[in-house]
Amino acid sequence: MTYQANILFVDDEPAYRRSFQSTLRRWQEGLEVRTAGDGLEALEVLESYPADIVFTDFRMPKMDGLTLLTRIREEYPDVFVLMLTGVDSTKDVVAAMKAGAYDYILKPFDFEMVRKSIEKILEHKRILSEEQGGGVEVSFENIIGQDQKMFEIYEKISQVAQTNASVLITGESGTGKELIAEAIHKKSPRSNKPFVQVNCAALTETLINSELFGHEKGAFTGAAARKKGFFEQADGGTIFLDEIGDVPLQTQVALLRVLELGTFQRVGGTETIRVDVRLVCATNKDLVRSIAEKTFREDLYYRINVVSLASPSLSERKSDIPLLSKYFLEKYSLNTGKKVKRISKAATKLLNSYAWPGNVRELGNAIEHAVVFCKGVEMLPSHLPIEIREMENDQGDFNLSLSSSSLADAEIALISKVLEETDWNLKKAADALAIARGTLYSKMKKYNIKKPNEHI
Ligand SMILES: Nc1ncnc2c1ncn2[C@@H]1O[C@H](COP(=O)(O)OP(=O)(O)OP(=O)(O)O)[C@@H](O)[C@H]1O
Ligand SMILES: [Mg+2]
Repeated sequence: MTYQANILFVDDEPAYRRSFQSTLRRWQEGLEVRTAGDGLEALEVLESYPADIVFTDFRMPKMDGLTLLTRIREEYPDVFVLMLTGVDSTKDVVAAMKAGAYDYILKPFDFEMVRKSIEKILEHKRILSEEQGGGVEVSFENIIGQDQKMFEIYEKISQVAQTNASVLITGESGTGKELIAEAIHKKSPRSNKPFVQVNCAALTETLINSELFGHEKGAFTGAAARKKGFFEQADGGTIFLDEIGDVPLQTQVALLRVLELGTFQRVGGTETIRVDVRLVCATNKDLVRSIAEKTFREDLYYRINVVSLASPSLSERKSDIPLLSKYFLEKYSLNTGKKVKRISKAATKLLNSYAWPGNVRELGNAIEHAVVFCKGVEMLPSHLPIEIREMENDQGDFNLSLSSSSLADAEIALISKVLEETDWNLKKAADALAIARGTLYSKMKKYNIKKPNEHI
């Protein structure tokens, strides 16, 4: 396999650096390898060196591997980070994987493992760049994500798209099930035929049959003309039954019949209609439980669930938060004509540590909210919705309660917090507090508020 890639190797042991560099250079001409002795140096290198992959040790002077990983995830979200670890550091590995490392390699390492990891990452990048017609992007159709879990989804989509098998997409609300269904259609040989999306939850029990199968003129009051149902509209293409878990039992029987026979009749009609459709379903319900509760038919479940695809929740792929945040920031800045260019460190920290029960949808909404409230080029914690900011309070970082005995205490707490959030940038902090910079400065003097290790 020949390939081209920029690699950065970070380790405080010079002998490791030398051997890594010389071994990799021997493999491939197109492989560029640079090295750094600690996290800080690595960040300096990254400023001018567009690395694709970073290998980093954990324990290093000045800045350790975990901090470096976090900084890379924030500042260069499309760089893949692999951790080098000793056998006894399970805890480190867990922390790193949570913080968004792509993978880890045990030390002393086997260069064969290194080679395999590089090839795997480059293969992912290759698939993605073909997808995008050249430029390396971290998305697939309209789905954004470069977490390992998302690559697995992309691969599965590509595979099932080539078949006619029924696919059931499961996953929490807001995880992108609709996007996955669309991607399956777009990647399939049926892509130039219709993709018909049916929101089953919105169909009333009385209308669902006529909506799905169509009706003849005069079939019921109001049926002024013959109408094709969704199945007929989707002929040759894909029908996407969204919220399938909400289909009433009676209609489940009708659905099962179509799937088994491949034919149906319009409501009020006698003609047997045969269509060629590919079925994709989605639900955020636990259908196995619905079966146990007798609200979902087991036989239908097996019909629709020939292949299942579980869309991961955002908390299972935290490493994608910075990437998605950046994506939504650009999207909503463009939409609103605002010039918000960055997300501050403190805001990034909040976004990364919030639990996101509403998944990607909630993240998108939060960023949209923040863009609306942001006045300058940088998004600050104060622009984010209250529930995301409050989470921090719950953790006890900042708790302005009645127990703050004096106004002065409250002022000190608030000023310190805002300064921290704005990375001790007085102008930004004054803006956020809606006071003049001079006022802020005099208050800092009065209360003796100082940046740690520094004097003002
Ligand atoms: N991976 C992703 N990349 C980009 N946008 C995403 C992604 N996942 C979700 N979104 C966006 O989040 C919103 C919710 O996604 P979607 O409607 O597909 O979720 P869902 O899983 O169908 O949720 P529900 O179960 O509530 O119907 C949409 O605006 C979608 O564009
Ligand atoms: Mg949906």
